[in-house]
Amino acid sequence: MDVGRLDREILKIRNLTVSFIQYEKNTFHKSALPVISDLGMTVCEGDVTAVVGSSGSGKSVLAHALFGLLPQNTFVDGEISYSGRTLQPDGAALLRGREIALIPQGVNCLDPLMKAGKQILNGKRDRLSVLRMRELFEKYGLAQEVERQYPSELSGGMARRVLLITALMNRPKLIVADEPTTGMEEALAKTVLADFRDFADEGNGVLLITHDLRMALTVADRIVVFYAGTVVEDAPADDFASEELLRHPYTKALWRAMPEHGFSAEPGVQPYAGERKKGCLFAPRCPYRATACGGEIPMVFVREGRARCVRCEEINQNVWRGDGE
Ligand SMILES: Nc1ncnc2c1ncn2[C@@H]1O[C@H](COP(=O)(O)OP(=O)(O)OP(=O)(O)O)[C@@H](O)[C@H]1O
Ligand SMILES: [Mg+2]
Repeated sequence: MDVGRLDREILKIRNLTVSFIQYEKNTFHKSALPVISDLGMTVCEGDVTAVVGSSGSGKSVLAHALFGLLPQNTFVDGEISYSGRTLQPDGAALLRGREIALIPQGVNCLDPLMKAGKQILNGKRDRLSVLRMRELFEKYGLAQEVERQYPSELSGGMARRVLLITALMNRPKLIVADEPTTGMEEALAKTVLADFRDFADEGNGVLLITHDLRMALTVADRIVVFYAGTVVEDAPADDFASEELLRHPYTKALWRAMPEHGFSAEPGVQPYAGERKKGCLFAPRCPYRATACGGEIPMVFVREGRARCVRCEEINQNVWRGDGE
């Protein structure tokens, strides 16, 4: 990792593991269903860091872990630090809504019995807070009457803007935005992303969670690729200019699946969390798989990024040879 980034780290996650404790079918035995394992990543001041991965890869579980919002039956292990201070592995509850703000994926987290304005102000009544709220309403195209409306009266896109405004009210230092532009018209989505860019450029951090790599590349400095509950690649966004610059076979497959690169889909599906086996989780779909892929797969540093692949250096240097696996 370059030293410049180390100086700017605002959020650091190390060896994060999240499991849901569940009863096994038709028994009284409990077992742990791991949905995130050995996950590490950082978000730096000045950067938009995008977490990209398909549905079920653990993006929202990560966001909830950061904010201590996981259900009771969850086991969380690992280390999360914010601005150099270690937080409990299950999150930043104390900082929530102040220095760290979450824009959740589900609009159903709005209180159905409370008017939008009241939720956004969160107990504040002072003039400056009301002015700030109205300024944000104007910026994101919400009519003032929305203040007096209940969540059930709002469209999905409007509710999403209410969540966005709630997050921005306290001028946080770090925003974690989980699919923040879902249901928004393209022009508004672009405004929101441009605002994240400005927010990062002012010296803050943004963790943007999305399944849309193309959208992430319009705004992000770094792309962190999730697959089946862990990070398989962490790369500067600029490396997505060409497939050769990417490190992990899954990232290369995502790149080839982009419309401008031919829409070519990799056969197979991401394994479900409970089906996790030893070795590389992408191996069954990987054109480069070899015997070594069945063993431990550490994260390795490659150029200015990282990848969880035992063969990525060979693949990158184009000296990869199959071993008949
Ligand atoms: N409370 C829970 N109990 C058991 N399993 C859960 C729970 N919450 C999430 N999971 C499982 O954890 C995995 C990751 O879910 P998560 O919601 O983080 O995916 P995601 O990457 O955010 O997907 P999407 O793009 O659809 O939002 C999934 O397999 C999901 O079924
Ligand atoms: Mg999600």
